[in-house]
Parts: sequence; C-alpha cells; structure tokens
Amino acid sequence: MEYKLSPSILASDFTQLGKQIEEVAENGADYLHIDVMDGVFVPSISFGMPLIKSIRKCTDIFFDVHLMIENPERYLDAFAGCGADGITIHMESVADAGTALRRIKSLGLRAGVAISPETPVETLTAVEDIADMVLVMTVKPGFGGQSYIESSTKKIIKARRLCDDSGRRIDIEVDGGITRENIGKVLSAGANVIVMGSSVFGGDVAENTAYFRKVLDEYSQKG
Ligand code: DX5
Ligand code: ZN
Repeated sequence: MEYKLSPSILASDFTQLGKQIEEVAENGADYLHIDVMDGVFVPSISFGMPLIKSIRKCTDIFFDVHLMIENPERYLDAFAGCGADGITIHMESVADAGTALRRIKSLGLRAGVAISPETPVETLTAVEDIADMVLVMTVKPGFGGQSYIESSTKKIIKARRLCDDSGRRIDIEVDGGITRENIGKVLSAGANVIVMGSSVFGGDVAENTAYFRKVLDEYSQKG
C-alpha cells in the first residue's frame, strides 16, 4: 500500500502560500489538499478556481481538491481546467454520486467520494465499483483546527474492509484533527492518505512535514 501525505493549505499562511507549498513539497508531501467551501454545503467560504489556477503555476505536486459544495457536478470541468489532479465530492452533496465520479474520471482525474461523520459507511457500496478514493471525514466538514471524532476509527476500519472486499485498489483518506498523537491510530485502522492542516502548517512547516513523512515511511516499511 502506498502512504500519501496531503497537507491542507486551509491552515497555511496565505501571505506565504507559494513558499509554504515549496516547503511541504520539498519535505515529503505527496499531495496538496485544497479545501473548497461554498458557504452552503458547509457554513464557511474558503477559496476557489482563481487560487488553484494561480498556485498551479508554482508546483507540480498532485492537487487533491476536496469540494465541500452543493451540486459539485456544476464545477467539475472548471476545477479540472484550473489544475486539479484529483477531485473529491461529498456523498451528501449530490443526487447521484456514481455519475459525478464517472464524470471526474472521464476528465482524466482521480475520483474521490467523501462521507461526513453522520453518513454511514454502507452508503459507499453504491460507488465501490467507481471510486478511486474514499474520504472518511474525521471532523465535521467546514473548519480546520477541530478535534478528531473518536468514533471515526471504527468507520475507517469498516471502510477499509468494504474497499478491500471490492477487489479494487481504493485509497482511504482521512481528514480532520490528525495529529502526531493519533496518526498511528488512523494508519492501523486502514487509512493511507493522510490530510493535515494545523499539524503541518502550525509551527515549523518543513520540520512538521518531514516528521510526518518519516512516520508514513516507517509505517509502510513495517508492512
Ligand atoms: C475541514 C477540512 C480539512 C481541514 C483539516 O473541513 O476538510 O481539510 O483543513 O484541518 P485540520 O488538520 O487542522 O483539522
Ligand atoms: Zn479537506
């Protein structure tokens, strides 16, 4: 299994964004997690296409775009056009997740589906033949800096089982409240793409990224 580190720029210092992207990329990040919020699906508003288009110019790193927006189907082509490499939509935000995921794949991107804390893992059976990645939200979507919801661990275990049983390679991403203290727990539960906002961008960005890279490398060597 490949273990990916995906720092979330929501927690970055926007006055230093280009420099901080370089720092995470140089210190072992695989992806850059980009949280798009519309103020409707979630209470807050973050950023959108112009920002993504702008930072696309300064890096080749994989853009892991997490759409926390209503009816994301309206914007899939636009996000592909501005440089997304993977797009994750929320199960709760679409009438037909399968169609949206197929559209993402037809644009040549990796297709992810997210479930919020209140959404049961079983809903994923509808898309296990299509999704490249499942995102188990480990906090309520909408804000960085929240604490990990403990009941998420069981959901990650269940999601890993469901994904493995599908016979396809499906990544499991976790997002929200991941720290130095609980990263081991989500890895053992079966997550392999780890999003981190505050834990990477709070403090020394290079040192934090290198630390988590080492944790993932050591974990993957253990088998
Ligand atoms: C929350 C976002 C997260 C957030 C994670 O809705 O999806 O990606 O940036 O931030 P931390 O790691 O600080 O919880
Ligand atoms: Zn996110």
